[in-house]
Amino acid sequence: MSETELTTGDFTEESEPFSLFAKWLADAGKSEPNDPNAVALATVDASGLPNVRMVLLKGFDERGFVFYTNFESQKGQEILGAGKAAMCFHWKSLRRQVRLRGPVEVVSDAEADEYYASRPRGSRIGAWASKQSRPLEGRFALEKAVAEYTARYAIGEIPRPPYWSGFRIRPVSIEFWHDRPFRLHDRVEFRRTAAEGEGWEKVRMYP
Ligand SMILES: Cc1cc2nc3c(=O)[nH]c(=O)nc-3n(C[C@H](O)[C@H](O)[C@H](O)COP(=O)(O)O)c2cc1C
Repeated sequence: MSETELTTGDFTEESEPFSLFAKWLADAGKSEPNDPNAVALATVDASGLPNVRMVLLKGFDERGFVFYTNFESQKGQEILGAGKAAMCFHWKSLRRQVRLRGPVEVVSDAEADEYYASRPRGSRIGAWASKQSRPLEGRFALEKAVAEYTARYAIGEIPRPPYWSGFRIRPVSIEFWHDRPFRLHDRVEFRRTAAEGEGWEKVRMYP
């Protein structure tokens, strides 16, 4: 995608971050070879040691950024412990980065149920079969668990596992970064002012 086809690069129009994020994600959808919604998710353990891994963004609006996972996984436990997390998108094809951080809430059961029901049957079985982040003695044990849950839920709806749901990061800041020649990149950070729903401060920063 050429520079002229990109929606915007100079951040002059936006007074809040979500519409700009929507444009950039749409741009990434046209130019990334796969998973434009892939994002690095950073958490911190009880000792303060950071951790990072990829997840898929499954929704966003003015409340925040949503992904789904096993709450008994390492990331799940770390988020439930610290109550905070951060994300970093990098779209290589666009030379753009978006990072955000903030407190985390659990999505409603209705929201999680709706998303879970939209997943392919195999993924719904997989959520039951995988004790995510815990030791697995061998591939066979996982295949056996998949076979067992496939048999158990052969007929009817597959319920959502009680330990599987979504987290929403409610950003206190979102930074947009766009590559410019000679490392003189554009960086703009939106910072939530005082209370949620009361607008954003927009701060341009040295690259
Ligand atoms: C592109 C990509 C997308 C992923 N999306 C998810 C996801 O949405 N949810 C999830 O639980 N794991 C996802 N994973 C797997 C995680 O990166 C990770 O291996 C797993 O969740 C265990 O992480 P944890 O032990 O830190 O909890 C994804 C991996 C990749 C490479």
